Amino acid sequence: MRKINGIIAAVVLVMFVVHGVFGALNMMNIAPIIVKWLSYTMLALIAVHAVISVGLSVRSVRTAIKTKAPYFTKNRLFWSRRISGLLILALVAFHLTAFGYTEGGVFRLVPFDLFRLVTQILFILSIAVHIITNVKPMLITFGVKRLRPKAGDILFFISAVLLFMTIGFIIYYIRWQL
Ligand code: HEM
Ligand code: HEM
Repeated sequence: MRKINGIIAAVVLVMFVVHGVFGALNMMNIAPIIVKWLSYTMLALIAVHAVISVGLSVRSVRTAIKTKAPYFTKNRLFWSRRISGLLILALVAFHLTAFGYTEGGVFRLVPFDLFRLVTQILFILSIAVHIITNVKPMLITFGVKRLRPKAGDILFFISAVLLFMTIGFIIYYIRWQL
């Protein structure tokens, strides 16, 4: 189950990069690329990943309590992974309502105000923490050796992409103020 969850998470990560880069290009008014099926497939996979992850976490905590060796329940990295995951779940609701809604078959934009900008930046931050804390476990799941340089490469790329997405939200906010 851990392996399946790892594969789903890796697929979500790739889809997230594609969706985020397209989204930022859209918000910067550079290219109007909207791939709805990608967004909703990613959302569905995240739901599956969240359910499996919560299940695995409950099992780990139970085993630790049973064996009277609850060391990792005190492990900050263990909890950072879980708290950032739950934060993503909470903040995705603000993301899905940040741009617009459909009414009678017509898509209406909603003004992208400061509240929306702040919630979207918090959303990106929680995703950043989740990815940073999970890159090494993911590489271990896939049996990658020489973890450090590989994790460094991935994190460098992800940081650049997250920065690009954040700039996208800021430019979109500025465009709404003009
Ligand atoms: C943008 C969305 C997300 C991405 C890109 C993502 C990515 C990942 C990755 C790459 C891993 C490492 C998998 C491995 O160890 O093989 C992971 C683990 C985990 N994720 Fe996510 N995730 C996302 C959303 C969520 C959400 C919404 C939750 C909510 C509960 C969550 C909870 C967890 C937990 C608890 C783990 C650790 C599982 C374990 O120890 O086996 N993730 N995630
Ligand atoms: C876990 C991460 C994310 C998920 C699950 C997600 C999911 C979605 C979904 C389902 C929609 C369609 C909403 C609708 O039809 O009303 C959407 C739209 C959008 N998202 Fe995301 N998103 C994520 C992260 C991001 C990030 C970080 C950006 C930043 C660039 C972004 C930019 C956009 C934009 C610009 C739209 C509106 C245009 C479009 O539909 O492509 N998304 N997102």
